[in-house]
Amino acid sequence: MKHTTILAIESSCDETSMSIVKDGHIEIATVTLSQIDIHKMYGGVVPEIASRNHIENITIVLDECLKKANMKIEDVDAIGVTYGPGLSGSLLVGIQCAKTLSYIYNKPLIPVHHIAGHIYANRLVGEFKFPLIALVVSGGHTDIILMEKDYSFKYLGGTLDDAIGEAYDKVARVIDLPYPGGPRIDKISKEGSHTYKLPTPMNDDSYNFSFSGIKSAVINLVHNEHQRGNEINKADLACSFQETVVGIIAKKTMKAIKENNIKQLIVAGGVAANSYLRETLTNLAKENNVELLIPPIDYCTDNATMIGCAAFYALNSDKKADLTLNAVPVEKLK
Ligand code: KG4
Ligand code: ZN
Repeated sequence: MKHTTILAIESSCDETSMSIVKDGHIEIATVTLSQIDIHKMYGGVVPEIASRNHIENITIVLDECLKKANMKIEDVDAIGVTYGPGLSGSLLVGIQCAKTLSYIYNKPLIPVHHIAGHIYANRLVGEFKFPLIALVVSGGHTDIILMEKDYSFKYLGGTLDDAIGEAYDKVARVIDLPYPGGPRIDKISKEGSHTYKLPTPMNDDSYNFSFSGIKSAVINLVHNEHQRGNEINKADLACSFQETVVGIIAKKTMKAIKENNIKQLIVAGGVAANSYLRETLTNLAKENNVELLIPPIDYCTDNATMIGCAAFYALNSDKKADLTLNAVPVEKLK
């Protein structure tokens, strides 16, 4: 059997990552340089600083990745790269690197949608069984997607305003937890209980979400309590927020599973690392007799391994780019 080995590049936000992946699911080597410590002091990612750091890091990451895999660029069959969505300056660094390698070594160039990457991180765990529902929960997305075959994405619904990761990060900031707030809320919630009453966002029959209201409710609550001279119990507030948003996400995901005769639920994106979401979906999948795939924690947040997995299926779906490939900061998954 002929194998396909892809060198994949991810630089859409603040991680410079490269990976070599075989046949869409076997990770040979991955190297990721995170800039979290640099952006932490600003409370969020600063785009200009991110792109400058990608420029400094990219050749180092490439050398390290090849060394770790004990391979040369000549040994790979294609170059996969995230072309969007993401920060344009950051995306451009990865794209320029991919185009240069593709041109010099005469390898096909495969454009990968960042969210397709998050979805295909699940191939590291198991085979896809269609039709499936992909629940995408990241810093920029909260989407329910129906997949009837590989690399085909039908949007059923999603957030109308803030993404779930964004809501986690903003609520964390309000209660003085450092960036990125999602993992901090996850951790501190374990010490609290659901004592604060918060509004359940978009508790209707649609597949859509809205998280800006609950974020504002948390801001108002903190403000009002401070004005009354009361202390906020951070752990209880984090837990109340988390249980409310995970509850609505789980409810709508289950509705999508039931209404579309689904064989499998797969979860994707940085917030898939959340322990309460993982536990809730594991229980729900069991109760509803549907198979569940969730990537290992380290593959939930941005990494090039997932791009290497997705690139294999993009290539099989004839998605190739030429040297005019450009960054697309805002792009629907299609
Ligand atoms: O997928 P990702 O790495 O970047 C985007 O493509 O957006 O997701 C980053 C988001 C951040 O908002 C971060 O706070 C959140 O994922 N996140 C978490 C956890 N780990 C990362 N949110 C809740 N619980 C976690 N354990
Ligand atoms: Zn991401």
